[in-house]
Amino acid sequence: MFKKYYSEFISANDYIHMAAHSHHFWPDVTKKAMLDYWNDSRDLVDNKWEKIMTEVVPTSQKLISKILNLKHPQQIAFASNTHELFARLLSCFPQNDLRILTTDCEFHSVSRQLKRYDEEEGVSVNFINAEDENFKRAFLQESASGKYDVICLSQVFFNSGKSLEIEFVEELVKQKDEKTVLVLDGYHGFCAVPTDLSSVEDHIFYMAGAYKYAQGGEGMCFMTVPKGCALRPLNTGWFASFETLEKKTDKVEYAKDAQRFAGSTRDFSAHYRFNTVWENFFENGITVESIHQHIQKLQKLFLEGLDCNFTNRDLSAQGHFLTIECPSEENTKELYERLKEDKVLTDFRGNRLRFGFGAYLEEEDVLSVKKTLKQNL
Ligand SMILES: Cc1ncc(COP(=O)(O)O)c(C=O)c1O
Repeated sequence: MFKKYYSEFISANDYIHMAAHSHHFWPDVTKKAMLDYWNDSRDLVDNKWEKIMTEVVPTSQKLISKILNLKHPQQIAFASNTHELFARLLSCFPQNDLRILTTDCEFHSVSRQLKRYDEEEGVSVNFINAEDENFKRAFLQESASGKYDVICLSQVFFNSGKSLEIEFVEELVKQKDEKTVLVLDGYHGFCAVPTDLSSVEDHIFYMAGAYKYAQGGEGMCFMTVPKGCALRPLNTGWFASFETLEKKTDKVEYAKDAQRFAGSTRDFSAHYRFNTVWENFFENGITVESIHQHIQKLQKLFLEGLDCNFTNRDLSAQGHFLTIECPSEENTKELYERLKEDKVLTDFRGNRLRFGFGAYLEEEDVLSVKKTLKQNL
Protein backbone atom coordinates (compact mmCIF):
# COMPACT_ATOMS: atom_id res chain seq x y z
CA MET A 1 0.00 0.00 0.00
CA PHE A 2 2.69 2.54 1.05
CA LYS A 3 5.71 0.36 0.24
CA LYS A 4 6.23 1.90 -3.20
CA TYR A 5 7.28 5.19 -1.59
CA TYR A 6 10.31 3.54 0.07
CA SER A 7 11.85 1.49 -2.75
CA GLU A 8 15.42 2.80 -2.14
CA PHE A 9 15.66 1.97 1.56
CA ILE A 10 13.82 -1.33 1.13
CA SER A 11 16.06 -2.57 -1.67
CA ALA A 12 19.23 -1.52 0.18
CA ASN A 13 18.37 -3.52 3.31
CA ASP A 14 17.72 -7.25 3.35
CA TYR A 15 15.90 -7.43 6.69
CA ILE A 16 12.45 -6.54 8.01
CA HIS A 17 12.74 -3.15 9.68
CA MET A 18 10.68 -3.24 12.89
CA ALA A 19 12.39 -0.16 14.34
CA ALA A 20 10.50 2.68 12.69
CA HIS A 21 9.89 4.11 16.16
CA SER A 22 13.61 4.65 16.45
CA HIS A 23 14.33 5.97 12.98
CA HIS A 24 11.89 5.60 10.14
CA PHE A 25 13.00 4.66 6.62
CA TRP A 26 13.19 7.72 4.40
CA PRO A 27 10.81 7.92 1.41
CA ASP A 28 12.43 7.97 -2.04
CA VAL A 29 11.57 11.65 -2.58
CA THR A 30 14.09 12.62 0.12
CA LYS A 31 16.91 11.83 -2.30
CA LYS A 32 15.87 14.64 -4.62
CA ALA A 33 15.35 16.91 -1.60
CA MET A 34 18.98 16.35 -0.57
CA LEU A 35 20.08 17.27 -4.06
CA ASP A 36 17.83 20.36 -4.03
CA TYR A 37 19.66 21.53 -0.92
CA TRP A 38 23.00 21.03 -2.61
CA ASN A 39 21.81 22.77 -5.78
CA ASP A 40 20.51 25.75 -3.80
CA SER A 41 23.83 25.95 -1.95
CA ARG A 42 25.66 25.98 -5.29
CA ASP A 43 23.29 28.32 -7.16
CA LEU A 44 22.40 30.77 -4.42
CA VAL A 45 25.51 30.58 -2.22
CA ASP A 46 24.94 33.14 0.57
CA ASN A 47 21.54 34.03 -0.84
CA LYS A 48 20.30 30.56 0.04
CA TRP A 49 19.60 31.86 3.55
CA GLU A 50 16.94 34.19 2.23
CA LYS A 51 15.22 31.27 0.53
CA ILE A 52 15.57 29.14 3.67
CA MET A 53 14.11 31.83 5.94
CA THR A 54 11.35 33.07 3.64
CA GLU A 55 10.30 29.88 1.84
CA VAL A 56 11.71 26.68 3.31
CA VAL A 57 11.16 27.26 7.02
CA PRO A 58 7.68 28.78 6.53
CA THR A 59 6.75 25.71 4.46
CA SER A 60 7.84 23.43 7.31
CA GLN A 61 5.80 25.59 9.70
CA LYS A 62 2.76 25.37 7.44
CA LEU A 63 3.01 21.60 7.07
CA ILE A 64 3.47 21.05 10.81
CA SER A 65 0.49 23.34 11.42
CA LYS A 66 -1.62 21.33 9.01
CA ILE A 67 -0.61 18.07 10.68
CA LEU A 68 -1.30 19.35 14.21
CA ASN A 69 -4.17 21.69 13.29
CA LEU A 70 -2.40 24.80 14.57
CA LYS A 71 -3.55 28.33 13.76
CA HIS A 72 -0.23 30.14 14.24
CA PRO A 73 2.58 28.64 12.08
CA GLN A 74 5.00 31.38 13.12
CA GLN A 75 4.72 30.07 16.67
CA ILE A 76 6.93 27.09 15.76
CA ALA A 77 10.63 27.25 16.67
CA PHE A 78 13.26 24.91 15.21
CA ALA A 79 16.53 23.32 16.31
CA SER A 80 18.59 20.29 15.33
CA ASN A 81 17.26 18.23 18.24
CA THR A 82 14.77 18.38 21.09
CA HIS A 83 17.57 18.40 23.66
CA GLU A 84 18.55 21.87 22.49
CA LEU A 85 14.99 23.20 22.62
CA PHE A 86 14.35 21.79 26.07
CA ALA A 87 17.63 23.17 27.42
CA ARG A 88 16.70 26.55 26.02
CA LEU A 89 13.28 26.42 27.64
CA LEU A 90 14.72 25.48 31.03
CA SER A 91 17.14 28.39 30.73
CA CYS A 92 14.18 30.80 30.97
CA PHE A 93 13.88 30.17 34.72
CA PRO A 94 16.01 31.16 37.71
CA GLN A 95 18.49 28.31 37.87
CA ASN A 96 18.48 28.19 41.67
CA ASP A 97 14.76 28.54 42.31
CA LEU A 98 12.83 26.11 40.17
CA ARG A 99 10.18 23.45 40.72
CA ILE A 100 9.49 20.88 38.02
CA LEU A 101 6.87 18.16 37.70
CA THR A 102 7.55 15.28 35.33
CA THR A 103 7.32 11.49 35.05
CA ASP A 104 9.86 8.71 35.49
CA CYS A 105 9.34 7.62 31.86
CA GLU A 106 10.73 10.57 29.91
CA PHE A 107 13.26 10.11 27.12
CA HIS A 108 16.90 10.89 27.99
CA SER A 109 16.94 14.29 26.25
CA VAL A 110 14.53 15.45 28.95
CA SER A 111 15.27 13.11 31.86
CA ARG A 112 19.04 13.54 31.78
CA GLN A 113 18.70 17.32 32.08
CA LEU A 114 16.05 17.06 34.77
CA LYS A 115 18.05 14.59 36.86
CA ARG A 116 21.01 16.95 36.72
CA TYR A 117 18.86 19.97 37.58
CA ASP A 118 17.53 18.03 40.56
CA GLU A 119 21.08 17.94 41.99
CA GLU A 120 21.20 21.74 42.13
CA GLU A 121 20.42 23.66 45.28
CA GLY A 122 17.07 25.43 45.04
CA VAL A 123 15.81 23.14 42.29
CA SER A 124 13.42 20.26 42.90
CA VAL A 125 12.07 17.80 40.37
CA ASN A 126 9.14 15.52 41.14
CA PHE A 127 9.29 12.35 39.02
CA ILE A 128 5.81 10.75 39.11
CA ASN A 129 5.53 7.04 38.29
CA ALA A 130 3.95 6.98 34.83
CA GLU A 131 3.25 3.25 35.01
CA ASP A 132 1.18 3.35 38.16
CA GLU A 133 -2.47 2.61 37.48
CA ASN A 134 -3.43 5.88 39.18
CA PHE A 135 -0.85 7.89 37.23
CA LYS A 136 -3.24 10.28 35.52
CA ARG A 137 -5.11 11.14 38.70
CA ALA A 138 -1.88 11.62 40.67
CA PHE A 139 -0.30 13.75 37.94
CA LEU A 140 -3.39 15.95 37.59
CA GLN A 141 -3.61 16.39 41.33
CA GLU A 142 0.03 17.43 41.55
CA SER A 143 -0.26 19.80 38.58
CA ALA A 144 -3.24 21.47 40.24
CA SER A 145 -1.16 22.29 43.33
CA GLY A 146 0.13 25.45 41.65
CA LYS A 147 3.63 24.94 42.98
CA TYR A 148 5.44 24.09 39.73
CA ASP A 149 7.22 26.38 37.27
CA VAL A 150 7.49 23.66 34.63
CA ILE A 151 5.44 20.54 33.93
CA CYS A 152 6.87 18.14 31.40
CA LEU A 153 5.65 14.79 30.09
CA SER A 154 5.44 12.65 26.97
CA GLN A 155 2.50 12.31 24.63
CA VAL A 156 3.61 8.71 23.92
CA PHE A 157 6.06 7.15 26.37
CA PHE A 158 9.30 5.95 24.75
CA ASN A 159 9.65 2.87 26.96
CA SER A 160 6.13 1.48 26.58
CA GLY A 161 4.47 3.18 23.62
CA LYS A 162 1.48 4.06 25.81
CA SER A 163 -0.14 7.29 24.69
CA LEU A 164 -2.01 10.02 26.49
CA GLU A 165 -5.17 11.42 24.94
CA ILE A 166 -5.55 15.11 24.13
CA GLU A 167 -8.39 15.35 26.69
CA PHE A 168 -5.82 14.62 29.41
CA VAL A 169 -3.61 17.45 28.13
CA GLU A 170 -6.66 19.73 28.07
CA GLU A 171 -7.36 18.80 31.68
CA LEU A 172 -3.74 19.58 32.62
CA VAL A 173 -4.07 22.98 30.97
CA LYS A 174 -7.22 23.60 32.97
CA GLN A 175 -5.74 22.47 36.29
CA LYS A 176 -2.30 24.05 36.16
CA ASP A 177 -1.46 27.55 37.26
CA GLU A 178 -1.65 29.95 34.32
CA LYS A 179 2.05 30.84 34.49
CA THR A 180 3.27 27.23 34.74
CA VAL A 181 4.99 26.18 31.52
CA LEU A 182 3.57 22.88 30.23
CA VAL A 183 5.82 20.94 27.84
CA LEU A 184 4.66 17.91 25.91
CA ASP A 185 7.34 15.70 24.36
CA GLY A 186 5.46 14.64 21.26
CA TYR A 187 8.27 12.89 19.39
CA HIS A 188 6.52 9.49 19.44
CA GLY A 189 3.16 11.05 18.64
CA PHE A 190 3.97 13.45 15.82
CA CYS A 191 2.96 12.05 12.39
CA ALA A 192 2.07 8.74 14.08
CA VAL A 193 -0.94 9.30 16.33
CA PRO A 194 -3.41 11.77 14.76
CA THR A 195 -3.05 14.83 16.99
CA ASP A 196 -5.17 17.96 17.06
CA LEU A 197 -3.57 20.63 19.24
CA SER A 198 -5.99 23.42 18.34
CA SER A 199 -7.59 23.50 21.80
CA VAL A 200 -4.26 23.78 23.64
CA GLU A 201 -1.86 25.52 21.25
CA ASP A 202 -1.99 28.80 23.17
CA HIS A 203 -1.17 27.03 26.42
CA ILE A 204 1.49 24.39 25.81
CA PHE A 205 4.96 23.89 24.35
CA TYR A 206 4.88 20.83 22.06
CA MET A 207 8.25 19.35 21.03
CA ALA A 208 8.84 16.81 18.27
CA GLY A 209 11.07 16.13 15.28
CA ALA A 210 11.44 14.63 11.84
CA TYR A 211 13.64 11.60 12.43
CA LYS A 212 10.86 9.20 13.43
CA TYR A 213 7.36 9.05 11.95
CA ALA A 214 7.71 12.39 10.14
CA GLN A 215 10.24 10.61 7.92
CA GLY A 216 12.48 13.58 7.13
CA GLY A 217 15.59 12.20 8.83
CA GLU A 218 17.68 13.84 11.53
CA GLY A 219 18.24 17.56 11.98
CA MET A 220 14.79 19.14 12.16
CA CYS A 221 13.16 19.30 15.56
CA PHE A 222 10.60 21.86 16.58
CA MET A 223 8.75 23.33 19.52
CA THR A 224 5.42 25.13 19.39
CA VAL A 225 5.38 28.24 21.56
CA PRO A 226 2.17 29.81 22.91
CA LYS A 227 1.33 33.09 21.17
CA GLY A 228 2.41 36.10 23.18
CA CYS A 229 5.06 34.14 25.09
CA ALA A 230 7.49 36.66 26.57
CA LEU A 231 9.98 34.23 28.09
CA ARG A 232 13.63 35.26 27.69
CA PRO A 233 15.78 32.15 27.35
CA LEU A 234 19.30 32.53 28.71
CA ASN A 235 20.56 30.24 26.01
CA THR A 236 19.84 31.46 22.46
CA GLY A 237 21.73 32.10 19.25
CA TRP A 238 21.78 35.11 16.97
CA PHE A 239 18.83 33.76 14.96
CA ALA A 240 16.62 34.63 17.96
CA SER A 241 16.24 38.26 16.94
CA PHE A 242 16.92 39.03 13.28
CA GLU A 243 14.95 42.29 13.57
CA THR A 244 17.45 43.85 15.96
CA LEU A 245 20.70 42.46 14.61
CA GLU A 246 21.82 45.78 13.20
CA LYS A 247 20.51 47.80 16.15
CA LYS A 248 23.20 48.98 18.55
CA THR A 249 21.89 48.02 21.98
CA ASP A 250 23.20 46.59 25.22
CA LYS A 251 19.91 44.81 25.83
CA VAL A 252 19.37 41.25 24.62
CA GLU A 253 16.40 41.48 22.28
CA TYR A 254 14.06 38.66 21.29
CA ALA A 255 11.76 38.10 18.34
CA LYS A 256 8.07 38.42 19.16
CA ASP A 257 7.20 34.97 17.80
CA ALA A 258 8.70 31.50 18.33
CA GLN A 259 11.93 32.62 16.72
CA ARG A 260 12.88 33.94 20.19
CA PHE A 261 13.83 30.31 20.97
CA ALA A 262 16.17 29.97 17.99
CA GLY A 263 19.81 28.96 18.03
CA SER A 264 22.10 29.84 15.14
CA THR A 265 23.64 28.49 11.93
CA ARG A 266 22.81 24.86 11.21
CA ASP A 267 22.20 22.42 8.38
CA PHE A 268 18.68 22.98 6.99
CA SER A 269 18.62 20.00 4.63
CA ALA A 270 16.23 18.17 6.97
CA HIS A 271 13.65 20.89 6.25
CA TYR A 272 13.98 20.18 2.53
CA ARG A 273 13.42 16.48 3.18
CA PHE A 274 10.53 16.95 5.58
CA ASN A 275 8.78 19.43 3.27
CA THR A 276 9.16 17.19 0.23
CA VAL A 277 7.90 14.09 2.07
CA TRP A 278 4.71 15.71 3.34
CA GLU A 279 3.98 17.74 0.22
CA ASN A 280 4.29 14.52 -1.73
CA PHE A 281 2.14 12.54 0.73
CA PHE A 282 -0.61 15.17 0.75
CA GLU A 283 -0.57 15.34 -3.07
CA ASN A 284 -1.11 11.59 -3.09
CA GLY A 285 -3.93 11.72 -0.54
CA ILE A 286 -1.79 10.22 2.23
CA THR A 287 -2.35 11.64 5.70
CA VAL A 288 -1.29 10.87 9.26
CA GLU A 289 -4.76 9.37 9.70
CA SER A 290 -4.44 6.99 6.73
CA ILE A 291 -0.98 5.84 7.83
CA HIS A 292 -2.27 5.39 11.40
CA GLN A 293 -5.14 3.19 10.19
CA HIS A 294 -2.69 1.04 8.27
CA ILE A 295 -0.37 0.72 11.28
CA GLN A 296 -3.20 -0.14 13.64
CA LYS A 297 -4.32 -2.94 11.29
CA LEU A 298 -0.78 -4.32 11.33
CA GLN A 299 -0.49 -4.01 15.11
CA LYS A 300 -3.79 -5.85 15.58
CA LEU A 301 -2.54 -8.63 13.33
CA PHE A 302 0.71 -8.81 15.30
CA LEU A 303 -1.05 -9.05 18.65
CA GLU A 304 -3.51 -11.76 17.52
CA GLY A 305 -2.62 -15.08 19.12
CA LEU A 306 0.82 -13.94 20.26
CA ASP A 307 1.29 -15.08 23.83
CA CYS A 308 3.88 -12.53 24.98
CA ASN A 309 4.02 -10.14 27.89
CA PHE A 310 3.00 -6.96 26.05
CA THR A 311 3.19 -3.78 28.13
CA ASN A 312 -0.08 -2.68 26.57
CA ARG A 313 -2.49 -4.36 24.14
CA ASP A 314 -5.00 -1.53 24.02
CA LEU A 315 -4.39 0.03 20.61
CA SER A 316 -6.60 3.01 21.38
CA ALA A 317 -3.92 4.18 23.82
CA GLN A 318 -0.78 3.12 21.98
CA GLY A 319 1.70 4.76 19.61
CA HIS A 320 3.27 3.01 16.62
CA PHE A 321 5.39 0.50 18.50
CA LEU A 322 4.53 -2.44 20.71
CA THR A 323 6.65 -3.48 23.64
CA ILE A 324 7.29 -6.93 25.08
CA GLU A 325 8.58 -7.14 28.63
CA CYS A 326 11.23 -9.85 28.95
CA PRO A 327 12.34 -11.53 32.19
CA SER A 328 15.69 -9.70 32.28
CA GLU A 329 17.84 -7.19 30.37
CA GLU A 330 20.18 -10.00 29.36
CA ASN A 331 17.33 -12.06 28.03
CA THR A 332 16.02 -9.04 26.07
CA LYS A 333 19.37 -8.44 24.43
CA GLU A 334 19.65 -12.12 23.50
CA LEU A 335 16.22 -12.13 21.90
CA TYR A 336 17.05 -8.92 20.04
CA GLU A 337 20.28 -10.52 18.72
CA ARG A 338 18.52 -13.74 17.67
CA LEU A 339 15.85 -11.78 15.79
CA LYS A 340 18.55 -9.69 14.13
CA GLU A 341 20.32 -12.85 12.99
CA ASP A 342 17.01 -13.94 11.49
CA LYS A 343 16.73 -10.62 9.66
CA VAL A 344 14.24 -8.84 11.89
CA LEU A 345 15.51 -5.54 13.27
CA THR A 346 13.93 -4.38 16.53
CA ASP A 347 15.46 -2.44 19.44
CA PHE A 348 15.27 -2.53 23.22
CA ARG A 349 15.29 -0.33 26.29
CA GLY A 350 16.22 -2.19 29.47
CA ASN A 351 14.11 -5.36 29.56
CA ARG A 352 11.66 -4.11 26.95
CA LEU A 353 11.88 -5.21 23.36
CA ARG A 354 10.28 -2.69 21.00
CA PHE A 355 8.60 -3.56 17.69
CA GLY A 356 8.06 -0.45 15.58
CA PHE A 357 5.65 -0.40 12.67
CA GLY A 358 6.63 1.76 9.70
CA ALA A 359 4.33 2.67 6.84
CA TYR A 360 6.46 0.46 4.56
CA LEU A 361 5.43 -2.76 6.32
CA GLU A 362 2.68 -4.97 4.93
CA GLU A 363 0.66 -7.83 6.44
CA GLU A 364 3.06 -10.41 5.00
CA ASP A 365 5.99 -8.73 6.80
CA VAL A 366 4.12 -8.80 10.10
CA LEU A 367 3.19 -12.48 9.70
CA SER A 368 6.79 -13.29 8.91
CA VAL A 369 8.05 -11.39 12.00
CA LYS A 370 5.49 -13.20 14.16
CA LYS A 371 6.71 -16.54 12.88
CA THR A 372 10.35 -15.61 13.53
CA LEU A 373 9.52 -14.34 16.99
CA LYS A 374 7.65 -17.54 17.92
CA GLN A 375 10.62 -19.62 16.79
CA ASN A 376 12.94 -17.61 19.02
CA LEU A 377 10.86 -17.38 22.17
C1 LIG B 1 10.30 10.72 23.44
C2 LIG B 1 11.52 11.17 22.69
N1 LIG B 1 11.82 12.48 22.67
C3 LIG B 1 12.90 12.94 21.99
C4 LIG B 1 13.74 12.07 21.32
C5 LIG B 1 14.91 12.60 20.56
O1 LIG B 1 15.69 13.48 21.29
P1 LIG B 1 16.80 14.41 20.57
O2 LIG B 1 16.07 15.19 19.51
O3 LIG B 1 17.28 15.28 21.67
O4 LIG B 1 17.83 13.51 20.03
C6 LIG B 1 13.46 10.71 21.32
C7 LIG B 1 14.37 9.78 20.59
O5 LIG B 1 14.28 8.60 20.61
C8 LIG B 1 12.33 10.25 22.04
O6 LIG B 1 12.05 8.94 22.08
